[in-house]
Amino acid sequence: MRARSILAVACSVSYTAAQTFQRLGGCPDLGCVFPPDQADFLPGQFFDIRLEVHSPINGSEARVGEPDADFKFTISKKGGHAIHAAKYFKVEEPELERWNFTWYEDLFAQDANQPSLVNVTAKAYRRVALYEPGEYEATLSYYGNEKTVANWVVRDLPSKRRAKNVILFVGDGMTTNMITAARLMAHRSINGKYMTKMALDKFPVLGHQMTHSMDSFITDSANSATALYSGHKTTVNALNVYVDSSSDPFDDPKFENIVEVFRRRYPDGGVGIVSTAFLADATPAGLAAHTSDRGKYDHVITAYYEGLTEYEWTNWDGPDVLLGAGAENFLTSEDSHRDYYDLFAKKGYNVAWNNTALHNAPSDEKLLGVFQTSNLATWLDRNVYQANLQNQSNYPDGSKRDAEDLPGLKDMTLKAIDVLHERHADDGFFLMSEAASIDKQMHTLDYDRSLGELLELDDTVRATIEKLKELDQLEDTLIVVTADHGHGFDVTGSVDTDYLDAQEDDRSKRNAVGYYQNSGLSQYTVDGPKSLRYSEGVHFPARWDPRYTLHAGVVAFPDHRENYQVHNEGPRTPAEAAKDKKNGYYANYKDAVTGFLINGTLPVSADEGVHSLTDVPVFAQGPCQELFGGVYNSIDIFFNMAECLGLAETKGDDHN
Ligand SMILES: *[C@@H]1O[C@H](CO)[C@@H](O)[C@H](O)[C@H]1NC(C)=O
Ligand SMILES: *[C@@H]1O[C@H](CO)[C@@H](O)[C@H](O)[C@H]1NC(C)=O
Ligand SMILES: *[C@@H]1O[C@H](CO)[C@@H](O)[C@H](O)[C@H]1NC(C)=O
Ligand SMILES: *[C@@H]1O[C@H](CO)[C@@H](O)[C@H](O)[C@H]1NC(C)=O
Ligand SMILES: *[C@@H]1O[C@H](CO)[C@@H](O)[C@H](O)[C@H]1NC(C)=O
Ligand SMILES: *[C@@H]1O[C@H](CO)[C@@H](O)[C@H](O)[C@H]1NC(C)=O
Ligand SMILES: [Zn+2]
Repeated sequence: MRARSILAVACSVSYTAAQTFQRLGGCPDLGCVFPPDQADFLPGQFFDIRLEVHSPINGSEARVGEPDADFKFTISKKGGHAIHAAKYFKVEEPELERWNFTWYEDLFAQDANQPSLVNVTAKAYRRVALYEPGEYEATLSYYGNEKTVANWVVRDLPSKRRAKNVILFVGDGMTTNMITAARLMAHRSINGKYMTKMALDKFPVLGHQMTHSMDSFITDSANSATALYSGHKTTVNALNVYVDSSSDPFDDPKFENIVEVFRRRYPDGGVGIVSTAFLADATPAGLAAHTSDRGKYDHVITAYYEGLTEYEWTNWDGPDVLLGAGAENFLTSEDSHRDYYDLFAKKGYNVAWNNTALHNAPSDEKLLGVFQTSNLATWLDRNVYQANLQNQSNYPDGSKRDAEDLPGLKDMTLKAIDVLHERHADDGFFLMSEAASIDKQMHTLDYDRSLGELLELDDTVRATIEKLKELDQLEDTLIVVTADHGHGFDVTGSVDTDYLDAQEDDRSKRNAVGYYQNSGLSQYTVDGPKSLRYSEGVHFPARWDPRYTLHAGVVAFPDHRENYQVHNEGPRTPAEAAKDKKNGYYANYKDAVTGFLINGTLPVSADEGVHSLTDVPVFAQGPCQELFGGVYNSIDIFFNMAECLGLAETKGDDHN
């Protein structure tokens, strides 16, 4: 393959080349069209088009000559004439751009530091839309008779609005296996039958979504957030853009997300964003930012604050309510010379820095709540091992005192609903609430903390349903609970931790694991208050440190030690860089002193676990709930929510 002839390459670049490294995701030919082949659109959704023509200067695809500076691009509705894009969209023909970029063809090229170099010509049509449902062909013609065709579908969706409000809960990284384990820890059963149900167990409709990204089968939270909120699959690390080959993280082709369309169609609709992560993190950021690099935190906070002003996509006035953590991105810093607290306050926001202030904030005014630096402390640390909140120097005002009066996901979500309902009782709202640390604690193999977050999400969903009932909004609110991707987590038995601790060597310690009939029954629910044992309501484990714990694990991890016991002194650090050893990460001895060594399965450069392939569950109730049953793609969540809110802007166009 590396010796392929130049001629053969020009005609058909093999898909097998696009594996670990790709010249450009979504662009198997030397001509690239974004949105790419198989893209779906909401009628009337604004988007950018990026075209590129590549001339690889060296490497296996090398060709002679400059990239085409005179390529043509046409759009045709199925059965209609091909029309030049500028004429089709009634916009000016964009300027030709030129750049070059490098990429590695495989790991051998990377080891040898031999990147392949590509010269590029490009154009971008900004802020266009397709209004008429149907199939389209977008054709890029270059190098004489080369063609790259993108087949696009504008979905035919009813435009009648059926839900007044939509609440989307994202359990970041949450899988069915985790829900099963959390249920086992928090709910009592008798002879194999549960006496109580989780809030999720009571949803009328259950679906199943595929999370793959556009150009890799494992996704991250940025490109999966994009799929859920915008209906477009993209590349790892990208938020609401397709990734082009230029180095600028802000010139990539953008598309509108659900709150941008919602605010444009319903200027008086409300928007709320709640997360237990730092607010510049991908899942909340996906409702505002447009960049190929999720690490551009200052751009994210600016996007919350002012939106994409140059696009006039919305009368975006910022979300009504924005609650989470990550104070470092709001304070003046090296990254940002702006004091965002001050800017938000001048724009009419109340700013809350602790749980008391959150509860006391008037619900008829806009609200920014930032409760600590970094991610919010986990439910387990906030509720069970509170000593871990001390000496963190994480108060959100930058004063370096400790943040101890912290809200949880439930406090934030219920307050957000109060604000949104009070401010938008007539026009309704869209609220996204993220349990972020299900994922974050899975990454660090801290299963107790992760499942605590999952149970907090379940409790939040339960309390949300009660709240909506009180507000007489339940019938008018679509509630969707899903995940953005999974981790390869499961439980295969129990561990007698007393026995494990008493053994001297690693091989004997493994005899503490009991499977099949020796797995026994959950010990996390005994000793709890009687009132909670068999009644519906709030459910968490009665104790987190029983003698018999869960034998839990993931499929991909660094070297680490495992003792299957709750880390009561704070979140785990399973692997660390060792000064006296070669590069990479090694098991952190202090993380599980009494445990045994488990050799890693990931490259030694990984210090934590990673996301996995699994489909993830979708729970739905309310108007349009029937749309969410069955097996479908992550982007369908966007289209279903958009349909339910009546966001399709269909009008016949006169091009054919
Ligand atoms: C690549 O493009 C640059 C201009 O950007 C040009 O100077 C150079 O000759 C090109 N290289 C090749 C091999 O075409
Ligand atoms: C690549 O582009 C840079 C400017 O962006 C230019 O300085 C450089 O000469 C180019 N390299 C080639 C090989 O064309
Ligand atoms: C391609 O050209 C660049 C610039 O001259 C060089 O750094 C790189 O090693 C070359 N790569 C290959 C695969 O020959
Ligand atoms: C909570 O915030 C309010 C308002 O900023 C402040 O007056 C109060 O001292 C804070 N409480 C704590 C415990 O930091
Ligand atoms: C916090 O720091 C103080 C002073 O260094 C120390 O006395 C205290 O034990 C620490 N608390 C925790 C929970 O580590
Ligand atoms: C872990 O891997 C090392 C080699 O890297 C090996 O010497 C050791 O026996 C392995 N230990 C276990 C428990 O698999
Ligand atoms: Zn993750």
